[in-house]
Amino acid sequence: MNNDLINCVNINKTYDQADEQLTVLSNLSFSVKEGERIGLTGVSGCGKSTLLHILAGLDLPDSGEVNFNGKDIVLLDRDDRAKFRNKNIGFVYQFHHLLPEFSAIENVALPLWLSGKSKENSLKEAKDILDKVDLKAKEGSKPNQLSGGERQRVAIARSIINKPSSILMDEPTGSLDRKNVDNFMNLVIDLSQDLNISLIIATHDKNVSSRLDRLLNLE
Ligand SMILES: Nc1ncnc2c1ncn2[C@@H]1O[C@H](COP(=O)(O)OP(=O)(O)OP(=O)(O)O)[C@@H](O)[C@H]1O
Ligand SMILES: [Mg+2]
Repeated sequence: MNNDLINCVNINKTYDQADEQLTVLSNLSFSVKEGERIGLTGVSGCGKSTLLHILAGLDLPDSGEVNFNGKDIVLLDRDDRAKFRNKNIGFVYQFHHLLPEFSAIENVALPLWLSGKSKENSLKEAKDILDKVDLKAKEGSKPNQLSGGERQRVAIARSIINKPSSILMDEPTGSLDRKNVDNFMNLVIDLSQDLNISLIIATHDKNVSSRLDRLLNLE
């Protein structure tokens, strides 16, 4: 605990838009410790999703370093970045992004299966993780048979199955009511503590940001 897990140095990101260039991130530097829980705040359009995608290796900065445990993921080729992501990072979106044709347990097992484990073992581990998020009884349900709060719990289960060192979340509670927001935060904070997972959560919700260790405001 308390070592730097993530260390970003002078990240720059500019988008080409129709008739102008839009600089979204300008010489942004910050670090995140192992197990630390951070909120990413700032007005709509300030670059929260852009930063999360760069941290996940889903997008590249124009310049700057994105170091995980001292290794700069910007320097990896596309395949190695995808492998890095599968192994080290969980991602949770506002609208769960679960696969509609697959059951809850299959959705949770998928990242493990994709990383090379047998289907049988992947499903076995997925069952244990669904138990952790209190959804064992719903393992056979498809996403459209689950409530919004349940879907987000399946999305959390999927994000932790590969035992990531960090989970990045983009407005994960944007579609939940107050009670489900509180349940969601209780669950992710417990998991973060038990498994020493860092959290980086982009949010507009004070009921989310007030529960985190530190806020990074991207104005
Ligand atoms: N692929 C792209 N091409 C051009 N411009 C983009 C692209 N992606 C994002 N932008 C622009 O970059 C800015 C930052 O977008 P981003 O999605 O990171 O904001 P955000 O802070 O997540 O906003 P919100 O709170 O609304 O989700 C916006 O002005 C957006 O229009
Ligand atoms: Mg966004």
